[in-house]
Amino acid sequence: MEKTLIILKPDALQRNMAGRIISRFEDKGFQILALKAMQIRRELAEEHYGVHKDKPFYPRLLSYITSSPVIVMVLQANNGIAVARKMMGATFGSNAEPGTIRGDFGLSNSFNLIHGSDSPEAAEFEIGLYFKPDELLGYERGNEKWIYDYSGDEPE
Ligand code: RTP
Ligand code: MG
Repeated sequence: MEKTLIILKPDALQRNMAGRIISRFEDKGFQILALKAMQIRRELAEEHYGVHKDKPFYPRLLSYITSSPVIVMVLQANNGIAVARKMMGATFGSNAEPGTIRGDFGLSNSFNLIHGSDSPEAAEFEIGLYFKPDELLGYERGNEKWIYDYSGDEPE
């Protein structure tokens, strides 16, 4: 099982799309381990997106992500990082595939509604930025045995 950090960015909340986006992950079978609404401070944004600090879009990215509240979530699924990235679609709304979140809900290349961790290392780092360890819930879902096939050693 993999945990991933998902952020519903300011445009998702301003455009009243948070519920629809969260529903897609619930429908797919992701488990919600943590969820909060917050406004990201500049220092936190700089830490999170530090890998992009030399990119031309960096100043606009910082002002975008700090401009209005967001919803931050830790979601869990088998192969969850790659599955979530696939559901998000390509970075630019203008060329994200229909059927993906960015492909269905936006046109902008900057305001692209959602962030998702892109590797296990990034997920661990990002979850630590936004949540304390005791804020991640551990609980068994009633339908877990119908989300995956548990007849073998690993959920399939
Ligand atoms: P994210 O990190 O937010 O999940 O997005 P990503 O991996 O798909 O894309 P990344 O290359 O990491 O870029 C981070 C965010 O910066 C904004 N961006 N704008 N206008 C532009 O050329 C441009 N390029 C990137 C987007 O908000 C992107 O999600
Ligand atoms: Mg990225």
